[in-house]
Amino acid sequence: MDYPTPSISHLSRKPYVNYVYDAAEDTFLFMDALQNDAILPLICIEVGSGSGAIISFISKILGPECYYMATDINPIAANCTIDTAKLNEMPQCEVIITDLVSGLKDRLTGNVDVILFNPPYVVTPSKEISGNGIEASWAGGENGREVMDRLFTIVPQLLSPSGLFYLVAIKENYPDEIIKTMKMVGLSGEIILSRKAGRENLFILRFDKENSLS
Ligand SMILES: C[S@@+](CC[C@H](N)C(=O)[O-])C[C@H]1O[C@@H](n2cnc3c(N)ncnc32)[C@H](O)[C@@H]1O
Repeated sequence: MDYPTPSISHLSRKPYVNYVYDAAEDTFLFMDALQNDAILPLICIEVGSGSGAIISFISKILGPECYYMATDINPIAANCTIDTAKLNEMPQCEVIITDLVSGLKDRLTGNVDVILFNPPYVVTPSKEISGNGIEASWAGGENGREVMDRLFTIVPQLLSPSGLFYLVAIKENYPDEIIKTMKMVGLSGEIILSRKAGRENLFILRFDKENSLS
């Protein structure tokens, strides 16, 4: 089934234009991967929700029974996620300005059914990572991995036994190495979709606990 792309026309206007990551090829590939999977979760969290396009999109797939949370380090992006959620009539969405999932671990440990992350994946000097403005959308530091790597150790603690973790990555992030790294923390993963978009080779990775022993 094809779900409509959420309305995000407000992203091209103040206060969001140039301050919030606009939905791009990575965002749309992420949507394609999510609508291919039939999942029935109770809690879904998007880390780095930016425009809010992804969390609004997945709410159309998962429906009103699921509890939605979104975090972003950029306060303007967090506001934009709220606006996008309202514009697209999301059933509910709790939006938190924080670094990854800081402050939420105690509440969420072992309870999250779906974690989504389209991280800042561009290879940049490490010092570019420090901000919380639009540069946080892309600056990924060494191998583009410095921000996503920090989440990898937390994901197994948050996921419910049947939980799923979806991640966007590019070739320069070494997706196969990410899968090996996650295996060491108890998650089994695979590339479920890939696409070349301009100079970027984009991948969607999906991880779970259930198959990690197989
Ligand atoms: C590539 S954009 C993705 C935006 C949106 N999810 C999408 O798919 O279009 C990465 C997002 O992660 C956010 N971000 C970067 N570092 C973060 C961190 N440490 N904690 C939370 N959010 C972060 C950025 O502000 C940005 O909104």
